[in-house]
Amino acid sequence: MSTAAPARKDFLSVLDFDPSDLERCLEIAAQVKADRTLGRQAPTSAALAGRHIAMLFEKASLRTRSTFEIAVVELGGNVVSLQPEAALGKREPVADVARNLERWVDGIVIRTFSQRVLEEFARAAPRMRVINALSDDQHPCQALADVMTLREQWGPLRGRTVAYVGDGNNVAVSLVHATLMLGVNIHVVSPDGYQLPDWAVQQAAAASRHGARLRLFSDAADGVAGADAVYTDTWTSMGQEAEAERRRQVFAPYQVNDALMSHAKPGALFMHCLPAHRGEEVTADVFESAASVVFDQAENRLHVQKALLVMLVAAAHA
Ligand code: CP
Ligand code: NVA
Repeated sequence: MSTAAPARKDFLSVLDFDPSDLERCLEIAAQVKADRTLGRQAPTSAALAGRHIAMLFEKASLRTRSTFEIAVVELGGNVVSLQPEAALGKREPVADVARNLERWVDGIVIRTFSQRVLEEFARAAPRMRVINALSDDQHPCQALADVMTLREQWGPLRGRTVAYVGDGNNVAVSLVHATLMLGVNIHVVSPDGYQLPDWAVQQAAAASRHGARLRLFSDAADGVAGADAVYTDTWTSMGQEAEAERRRQVFAPYQVNDALMSHAKPGALFMHCLPAHRGEEVTADVFESAASVVFDQAENRLHVQKALLVMLVAAAHA
């Protein structure tokens, strides 16, 4: 198992990986998943020995924070929990915070609003690895778990089609990046005014491999037609709470329910990054159906993030 570090120091976007990094990440993730039963005997159980990884979360998190903390501990490293009000407040500039931290820690996992804050951390601290644990723009660690889950379900991914139905948000952007890079077609189905941002559409052409295509739709049934998996996310992301009522109205025709699933291929999977809102973006029936792989996605967060830490931090010091 090759664990050579990717060319980019940080993981702020799936596009910080080249396709071979993404393949390697998925291979390592599958291996650490299989090895997990070995506990302390697992070959990677000391991969982060003597290493410190800081956690800085400015928004709520169940999955991302728990799985990163467990990943660091199971790799033999140490977690340093930072207070967002101390590290991202008004006490000192972000660049100063980053330059302090890089004297102590090897990597930092950050959940914040602005992608620019992540970029500032990465730029100011050339020796510290920065990992995006969700920003307003992207959620790359989620996308790694999503494509791992698809590979477990399908084996080879090339030529498959995923339909993402809902807000063209952070989860959608990273899913577009990861699917296209692996040769998977992606449909993004959104109401007017909530489509995938233009910058993400432009990036898609460069990310695509093996002829995979991004197609944008506004009609839910059209977008889902022929899809091998249907993915949705909350209509109101963290930070948009004031818009929740308006969004509930705009997105109502985009609910993933049995009628919409019937337009997808027979046996199509249902995916969601969680947390889910039954009766809004997905019905309880679809969420609880045999097609739903949402808890596999959640489990795989742990394995892909372990792989990421092995590649970024352990391999960098190998
Ligand atoms: N999917 C996801 O990122 O979940 P959390 O917000 O709970 O971390
Ligand atoms: N789009 C959601 C994802 C949560 C994991 C948000 O940003 O709140």
